[in-house]
Amino acid sequence: MSRVILVLNGPNLNLLGTREPEIYGHTSLEDIKGMTAARAKPHSLDVDFRQSNKEGELVDWIQEGRTKSAGIIINAGAYTHTSVAILDALLACTIPVVEVHLSNLFKREEFRHHSYVTKASVGLICGFGAQGYELAVDAMAQILKKAKSA
Ligand code: DQA
Repeated sequence: MSRVILVLNGPNLNLLGTREPEIYGHTSLEDIKGMTAARAKPHSLDVDFRQSNKEGELVDWIQEGRTKSAGIIINAGAYTHTSVAILDALLACTIPVVEVHLSNLFKREEFRHHSYVTKASVGLICGFGAQGYELAVDAMAQILKKAKSA
């Protein structure tokens, strides 16, 4: 069985560190990549960390992860609130999905309160900044451990 977690990041997350730091913090996506891999290691998990500004590319990667990965952690950025295509791709997966966001969506504009991704996810982590990715790795490790022992 695969021990790789696919971590997908959507549009504008390549700008982390400089993009609205009062909302998203000062940590760059490259730093988050390192934090995520370090957190996965003690769980004997590897991380395949990717970012795209293109909806279709994210759909292609989810389809790839469906057969090659143990689970998917996804921050779909603004596509969270708009993309039925990403929802459908995630629903086609039988591997677990954990949704993560840096900001607390529910403290923000009304249009960010709805997520298509949540419908396909085991759970949602939001509001903990970059640390949310570490929490998502821990959650995924627990989910995979439980599934193995079931
Ligand atoms: C985000 C929240 C989204 O509403 C926003 O469009 C993003 C980032 C977050 O991580 O807090 O791009 O997903």
